[in-house]
Amino acid sequence: MSPVLDIRDLHLSFKGYGGLSEVLHGISLRIEQGQKVALVGESGSGKSVTARIVLGLLQETRTARIRGAVEFDGRDIGAMSARQRAALRGTEMSMIFQDPTSSLNPTFTIGRQFREVLGRRDPGIGRAASDARATQMLAEVSIPDPARVLAAYPFQLSGGMNQRVMIAMALANRPKLLLADEPGTALDVSVQAQTLHLMRELVDDHGTSVLFISHNLGVVREFADRLYVIYRGRIVEEGPAAAIFADPRHAYTRALMDAVPRITGGGLPDVPEVSEDFLAPLIRHEEDAA
Ligand SMILES: Nc1ncnc2c1ncn2[C@@H]1O[C@H](COP(=O)(O)OP(=O)(O)O)[C@@H](O)[C@H]1O
Ligand SMILES: [Mg+2]
Repeated sequence: MSPVLDIRDLHLSFKGYGGLSEVLHGISLRIEQGQKVALVGESGSGKSVTARIVLGLLQETRTARIRGAVEFDGRDIGAMSARQRAALRGTEMSMIFQDPTSSLNPTFTIGRQFREVLGRRDPGIGRAASDARATQMLAEVSIPDPARVLAAYPFQLSGGMNQRVMIAMALANRPKLLLADEPGTALDVSVQAQTLHLMRELVDDHGTSVLFISHNLGVVREFADRLYVIYRGRIVEEGPAAAIFADPRHAYTRALMDAVPRITGGGLPDVPEVSEDFLAPLIRHEEDAA
């Protein structure tokens, strides 16, 4: 079986007044079927731009120069037309962002927004069928009163509830790949932990592959099978999550690890102090014997 996502030697530059500046310097990352992979690094390291390339969004940005291979389910994203890439989003690939309020439309009820999402896969879906499917998905994210939530507008729901709705919508079309970019960072820590737990159960049930993006190693600890640590546009350490947590070898990974108790405890920034050692070459951990 081909991997769900295969990124090889991906370079990205932006054209600006001073010429081209490269922000991804040859990234390679693979996600097998049903695997949950985390991309972890501090703010500005190149996580979101990677996700935007996978989603086929940066390809449409005039100032972006992309080089390297990005294959989704055996298909070359770079070789697709803008239309073909757009058709993948919300169907075979879906995304959850940091702040649910920026992705949910404030002027439509949740039920109506579900109908739009489900209509991308099944354009003829009627209201009754859409509501039934939405109700089922809301129940899967442990929303106790789906009928009330379907009739509600996003502002009538709590942040945690909206985040659950987002997760339910993102999985409603049974995507092969879910991209979660800092999900729940806008929520308080215990609500974030709850929603991540729900998300994990759901993707496991559905066999969905995940690219989970975070600046916080503590958050990915419970979530990911495999870890890629990114520093300034380069992967510096990769391997099974358990192996890296047991034996972090790269200086930058260790610095991120040291920052974890501070984030979960007091909410202090987790940006480690820059050290020359952070530029040491990529460390690859052995694959699991399985
Ligand atoms: N549209 C853009 N034009 C120019 N530079 C950009 C653009 N988008 C992102 N960048 C730069 O690319 C780098 C990586 O950004 P990003 O992927 O958003 O980081 P993060 O890891 O925090 O998600 C940053 O230096 C950012 O300033
Ligand atoms: Mg980001």
